[in-house]
Amino acid sequence: EVKTRHRDVIVAIDEGTSNAKAVAIDGGGRVVAQSSRPLQVQTPQAGWVEQDGEVLVEASLTVLREVIDSVGMQRIAALAISNQRETAIGWYRASGKPVAPALTWQCSRSAAFCEQLRRDHQEPVIRDITGLPVAPLFSASKMRWLLDSLPDGAARAASGEICLGTIDAWLLWNLTGGEAFRCDTSNAARTQLLNLQHGDWDPQMLKLFGVPREALPQICPSSGFFGETRGLDGIPDGLPILAMVGDSHAALYGHGLGEFGGVKATYGTGSSVMAPIPQPQSSITQLATTVAWHDGQRAVYGLEGNIPHTGDAVAWMAQITGLTDGKGETLSRALTELPASVESTLGVYFVPALTGAGAPWWDGQARGVISGLSRGVGRSHLIRASLEAIAYQIADVIDAMRQHPDFHLSSLRVDGGPTRNPWLMQFQADLLGCEVLRSNTPELSALGAGLLSRRALEGLDDVRLRALLPQHDVFKPNAERHHILQQHWQGWKAAVASMLEQSAKHS
Ligand code: G3P
Repeated sequence: EVKTRHRDVIVAIDEGTSNAKAVAIDGGGRVVAQSSRPLQVQTPQAGWVEQDGEVLVEASLTVLREVIDSVGMQRIAALAISNQRETAIGWYRASGKPVAPALTWQCSRSAAFCEQLRRDHQEPVIRDITGLPVAPLFSASKMRWLLDSLPDGAARAASGEICLGTIDAWLLWNLTGGEAFRCDTSNAARTQLLNLQHGDWDPQMLKLFGVPREALPQICPSSGFFGETRGLDGIPDGLPILAMVGDSHAALYGHGLGEFGGVKATYGTGSSVMAPIPQPQSSITQLATTVAWHDGQRAVYGLEGNIPHTGDAVAWMAQITGLTDGKGETLSRALTELPASVESTLGVYFVPALTGAGAPWWDGQARGVISGLSRGVGRSHLIRASLEAIAYQIADVIDAMRQHPDFHLSSLRVDGGPTRNPWLMQFQADLLGCEVLRSNTPELSALGAGLLSRRALEGLDDVRLRALLPQHDVFKPNAERHHILQQHWQGWKAAVASMLEQSAKHS
């Protein structure tokens, strides 16, 4: 018994925007321990969103330590990292101290710079090389902003004094005591500096965004050796980190969707809808083309729509409507019961572009709107509108995916905290008119990263991988509700159109 359990566990850190988690997964794919810490964001100006990089590390190490203690060190074989993507951080190579707060993926402070790139007609070439539309979401313009904010920033980065990276690279640096400066290809694909065809930093993009190559990490496959723990309090030296991957991509892996023909949505602070595609090119300008992961043998590509505000727009609405007394369980219950307690939103639509609109609209200057307010509207209607907004935004992205010649929606696989809300899942199924398959492991990003780590450890083949994937609950669509919701979706689209019109007037 003791012998078979020797070093059978992978611990995956899932560093998200709202929580840092650690999840221990045994050789049968079961979650055997987990721990989590909430995280805060700071919003010093309209459209700016930051996090303290050292707090992200501290929280990640705390949950890692707790999980290792609970499972027992003798069982831990390796670590994995799944992380919030696009967030950019800079640090001094000598001290390892951040140069400034991390500019999170939601931050749109570089919107004016991106607008200028568009006006200068740079978008087609940027899209062609990186697969991404020009938007402040992606790390490159944030890295540029960080260097511009420092005296001689670009020159100091070029001389090697300053490191720039995504959160996987930042965590790895800290886990390895500054020995490993690497990122994975899925995170690199979100910077807008990766050449999708060659899989390396692109000289033209580096020049355009003013980011010196010397400041960037080495790009590695998502599954493979990244480094070993070193010099951490309460965590032994020598634990190998065998996977790093963006959280949304990790979830796609955890759903077992490596081949063309499936689509998944990860519900979190924001949401990411992703479908594997065979080629790294697509002509759908409303969506991004990205590296889903590289498993050490081959890269899988993804067609993706990233929505900046879904779960956190619900949290925001809960807060401003005074639903703050409830926390945890009580709040989750309220978010299921309140929307079901009313027949509709009474015509209210909440378009939550709180720091700008992402896919498929891509307007970094847009701001949120609540339309259709009337005297009878109360808290339940507003909460319902914030939840409906999640489903509408996901449906809008899926609609854009239909432009891909081979895309076919037979079902939607879903994961993430908000998928625990059965009302939301049923609404999503009714709106789309297809089955929604909810992973019964909400921690799918951690699980996916854990599987990529196990692949590097044991050479997991496809048959074994399939046996380790979690099961799904099924939400079936109701035809009558589908018909009604098609009309409501038109109302939502009108609200989005008026928001974009307002934004165009003010820019
Ligand atoms: O692209 C942003 C996404 O990776 C953030 O994920 O878990 O913080 O909502 P999460």
